[in-house]
Parts: sequence; C-alpha cells; structure tokens
Amino acid sequence: MSKTLITSALPYANGSIHLGHLVEYIQTDIYARFLRSCGEDVIYVCADDTHGTPIELNARKQGIEPAQFIARVHEEHMRDFAAFGISFDQFGSTNIDENRQYSEAIFRRLLDGGHIEKRPMELTYCEHDKRFLPDRFVRGVCPKCQAPDQYGDVCEKCGATYSPTDLADPRCAICGQPAVRRESCHYFFKLDHFTEFLREWSGRPGTLDPAILNNLRSGWLATGLADWCISRDGPYFGFKIPGEEDKFFYVWLDAPIGYISNTERLLADRAGSAGDGRRALAYWATDADARVVHFIGKDILNFHALFWPAVLHGAGLKTPDKLAVHGMLTVNGEKMSKSRGTFINARQYLDLLDPSYLRFFYASNLGASPEDLDLSLSEFRLRVNAELVNNLGNLCNRSLAMLKSKLGGRIGGARDAGLLEEAARTIGRVREAFSALEYRTGIRAVIELGEKANKFVQDRKPWETAKTAPEEASRDLSTVADVLCVIGALMAPVVPAIADALFGQLSVTPFTFKALESFASSPKALLPEGHEIGLPSPLIGRIDAEAADKLVVVPSAEAPQAQQQAPAPKAPEAKAPVAFDDFCRLDLRAGKILSAERIPKADKLLKLSVDLGEASPRTIAAGIAQAFDDPSVLVGRTVAVLANLPPRKIRGVESCGMILAAGEPKSGLSLLAINGNIAPGTPIG
Ligand code: MSP
Ligand code: ZN
Repeated sequence: MSKTLITSALPYANGSIHLGHLVEYIQTDIYARFLRSCGEDVIYVCADDTHGTPIELNARKQGIEPAQFIARVHEEHMRDFAAFGISFDQFGSTNIDENRQYSEAIFRRLLDGGHIEKRPMELTYCEHDKRFLPDRFVRGVCPKCQAPDQYGDVCEKCGATYSPTDLADPRCAICGQPAVRRESCHYFFKLDHFTEFLREWSGRPGTLDPAILNNLRSGWLATGLADWCISRDGPYFGFKIPGEEDKFFYVWLDAPIGYISNTERLLADRAGSAGDGRRALAYWATDADARVVHFIGKDILNFHALFWPAVLHGAGLKTPDKLAVHGMLTVNGEKMSKSRGTFINARQYLDLLDPSYLRFFYASNLGASPEDLDLSLSEFRLRVNAELVNNLGNLCNRSLAMLKSKLGGRIGGARDAGLLEEAARTIGRVREAFSALEYRTGIRAVIELGEKANKFVQDRKPWETAKTAPEEASRDLSTVADVLCVIGALMAPVVPAIADALFGQLSVTPFTFKALESFASSPKALLPEGHEIGLPSPLIGRIDAEAADKLVVVPSAEAPQAQQQAPAPKAPEAKAPVAFDDFCRLDLRAGKILSAERIPKADKLLKLSVDLGEASPRTIAAGIAQAFDDPSVLVGRTVAVLANLPPRKIRGVESCGMILAAGEPKSGLSLLAINGNIAPGTPIG
C-alpha cells in the first residue's frame, strides 16, 4: 500500500499560535485522522520554523540565545497544539542536525547542477548595528507616492512593491539611524531553469486547485521567474553556507527542507537509532512509493508552488503530489487585528472555551478551495449550539440516558432497517467529502443523519413504549445506539475528544471508517445483542455567550468609551431574612426532564414530564417556552425543582411543581442545572 506524508506549514518560532494558524493545523489534522481511520499508512510531520533575523533579534531583546528562545516557543507551541488535539506524528524543528545535512546536500546538488550562481549585489546596511538589513527592517519614503515611514519591500499607502535600495531617506528600523548601501556577494537560485518543469508539474491533475493554478500562472507570467536569492549575511540565526565565512542559508531555503529532515527524524525515532540521512528517501526519492501532501495558506503559495518544487526537482528529489491551499481567517468579517482585539491566541481561546467547538466550526466552513474563512462570533455560537450540542449531543444523551434508565442499558432486538440504511448511505457521502477536503459537505451529511435519528426518536416515543411495549423501545433505542457508533466514527476526525467520550459511554472500542466498510455496503446491527452500555452523561455543553464574548478583548487604550458606559442595571432589592427552618420547608430536588412539549394556544408555556425519583413522573407547566425554539433540547437535563407547591391548573394542565431558573425567557434564561451523576429525586440544600 502506498504511504502518505502530510505536512502543515512550519509555524515561525517567533510568536504564539493564534486562531488563524489553527485553520491550517485543524484542517490538516482532520485529514490525517481521517486517513488513519480509513486504515491508510500516513504520517503527519511538522516543525517550528526557527531561523531568520526576526527570531535572532527577538531573542537578543529578551537577553537570551536564539536557541533558548526557540526552545521556549517550541514548548508553548507543543502545548497549544496538543490542547487542540493536533495529532502530529512529529513536531520538530528546523534547527536540527538532520536539517543542516539535508540543506547542505541539496545546496550542493543545485550548485553542481549549475542552478546556483554567485554574484555581487547592493544592499541596505546599518553601520551602527553592523548588519545588512532585511526588507522589513528598513523604513523610508516610498519611491512612488512619497509616503513617509514605509517598509523596505512594500508601501502600505499605495501598495507599490520595490526593493529597500529604492527607498528615499532609508533608515534602520532597529536603531533609527540612516542606513547606507553596501555591496555583498550572494547566491542565486536560477528559478527560470525550471520554467518548463513547473509548467508541467503545476498542471498535473490534483496537484493544485484550478483557481490557485490560475492565480499562480498569471502572477508568474506577469513577472517572469526571477532569480531567487538564497543566502544572507551574518549576523544571522541559521545554517552557515559551507565554504563561506559569514554567509548563511536564507530561512526560506532551509524551512521547507524541514519537511524532509523531520520525516528523517521521525523514522529514525521509530527505528530507535540515529538518522542516517536516508530513511526519509522512502518518501522523498523520485521513485518513492508515497504521496506527499502539503497543507499551506495562500500567503505562502509561491514558496511552495514555485521555489520548493524547483529546488526538489533540481536536487533529484520527489516533488509534492498535492498542495492543499486554504484561505485566511477573518474574525467578524475583518482581518484579525490587535487593536480590534480579534487577534486571538490559542491560549486565550483555551482559557475560555472547549477546543472541540472551534474544530467543529472550522470544519463546518471548510471546503477544498482557498476561500477565506470567517469566524463570526455570533454565528460560531449559534451554529455550534444548534448542530453540535443540540442536534448531535442531545441525540446521544437523550437516547443513551433512556436506554440506561428504562431498559437497563442493554442492547437488544432487531433494528430499524430504514434508519440503518440512512446511516450507511451517510458513511459513503462523508468519506467522499472528507477525501476531497470538502469537510463542510461531510459535516452537513452527519447533521442530516442526526436530524433523522432525532425525528425517529420523536416519532417512536420510546419513553412511552418503554412502559407499554418494552421490546419496541429496546429495538428503537438499540437502532439509535448503532447510529451513534456511525456518527462517532464519522465525527472522530473532526471532534476526536467528543467521539472518544461517546465511544466510552457506548462502552465499545472506537469505530473507524475502515471498520464500517462492510456496514456501509450492507447495513446490519453493529452492537451485539445484550451489549451493555456505560454511563451516559452530556457529551458537551452549549457555548456560553458570556465566555464567547470574552474572546475579543479590545486593548483598553483603544476603548475609552467602555468606561463611560451606563452602569449595569442594579440587582433587585434584598428580601427580608427568613428563618433556616422556613428554608428547610421547601422541598427542593433534582428532577430529570423526560419530555418537553408546547401547550397548544399557550405560546409561553411548556408541558414537562419530570422524573423526581417517585413512582411516576410529574407533570409541570413552566413559563419558559420562549427561551427554547426546540423544547426537545431539554430532554435528559437534570434541573432544580421546587416539589412541594400545591398543584395548580394552568391552561388545562395540572402542574405539580416548579422548575427553577434565572433570567427572562425572552432575553436570556438559564435553568438551574444539576451537573454530574445526580439521581432524580436527590434533595437540594
Ligand atoms: N514559517 C512559514 C512557513 C514555512 S513552511 C516551510 C510561515 N509561518 S506562519 O507561522 O506565518 O504561518 C504558518 C501557516 O499558518 C501558514 O500556512 C499560514 O498561511 C497559516 N496562517 C497564518 N495566519 C493565518 C491566518 N490568519 N489565517 C489562515 N491561515 C494563517 O508562513
Ligand atoms: Zn541600526
């Protein structure tokens, strides 16, 4: 079987992982997990991109060595990626010996092949800092529109691109002193030697999305394939060029080579011995029986679609089989911005919300083409709450809870063929969609299956048949349990933590796409007769509106109005004290909602059936209907009930108790929730 190597772009070891990065790492991770679930031989390799001037300067600013700086960042990156469930087989570094060796070897082959030329060029230099200045470290007057204080490569005012030596009044961005011109010799990679090859490679079916291919070609036809400077003068944090005193490989030369050297490191670790510099050839030799897929953002397309394949081809190595290119993240419709508070770090997010929410939301919006993806925070909350929590989460919880409480948690009976066939068809749809990186289509299919299964439960009313015809209830809930095995497998690449919890509650070893192959072609019962499920509990709670709002933190200097806002409305006046004995006379208990339905012609009321641990459930009418579009979301929840109010007839319903809640049904209401494994009827006090 042919092997697959999947990579994500190597994040700069220069700062924290943020929600923009995570579009890519989550997208890649879903694909890696999906292929593993299909039983394929896949490795997912990534690393920190550790070289270059910004990292060197940042380390110096902190008074530490670059090596120490990148080690700290590496820890932080690893921790954040782990928290988001990114399942790298290898997350290494470009600052490893293997990478030096591969970089030197590739450079040597390109040199021997006549694809590298050395020649002098004029550069911008700071005599105070004694260094040549990269484009971003020169500021000056734009040669085109005369805007002052522009970067050395592009004017943010008029959009013109140029080189730092074109700027008028150039200054060093580090010390502010005027910069001078100075000549230096550099190595250039002759990209135009590869014009024909790149034309052929980029047009190979499946390599690039058609829209991306068009963009690439129009860019390169307009500017031609210019020589690419692959060396930098010291001081520089990177690999020294062999035979040179003070010259280093440009970070963008050794960074993608990090894909190869970290493959080497992974395979060496697995073999339990040092890298011999040859193992990675199982993936990277021209005749390797392997597929190489790079996930990247469209901002680094030229590096991966022009320079990288040309370098590989020139060095006699295998070129990538596919570039999966994604768009950029926007937050609330705009580019992430520090001043608007929408530049959200992984850590900030993790302090407030569950990573599964973000994985689910990104996947629900990702297709194969490189469109930008918008994290609208209101849509994020609505979508996750409606689809992941209410639809899928609630299906699991209500049916497993019923199976446990009404039928002793045992699977039994013939299954409903119609619903199982629906599940089997969904497997095919999701498999096709995930293979094509059309995650949103796959997720839609799972949500539809969830809706059908929920409707099935609604129609079959197992909570009633459990009393009148337990065999029917058993067969219906066992069918749903089978469907949950399928949903767990289909969603596992997207929300692995939730799928794991679900399989735990079902008490089964996780189902995979591979394990479901025969079910997909001829659906029949998945869980064996008599199988006993584990303890059901809600898989994931709703996104809390307050926590979601806290994601965006506008820096205080930019938000002076915030302090002038009207004070929040006061809490109501305190009530007169009560004696403790009086409090004890309230019979407060945990009650489990078994059913919830609207009462005809009473748009504010819901009729609830609540298990209070008594011989039969109580009926309670509650004035909370406006807070729930779909009252069935209440089923399975354990809430606080005042159980010793005298029964009262409300709109024809005899109501025997009161559900406790905070807030107003129209503007935001929350039922007092009892979490954990508390049995119905347990006293509260
Ligand atoms: N170090 C280079 C890649 C070298 S690969 C040999 C780099 N690093 S990065 O940290 O800036 O970005 C890493 C990946 O994250 C890139 O593919 C980039 O497109 C992606 N993203 C970074 N910010 C992003 C958004 N705001 N939105 C979506 N993806 C983004 O580039
Ligand atoms: Zn300077």
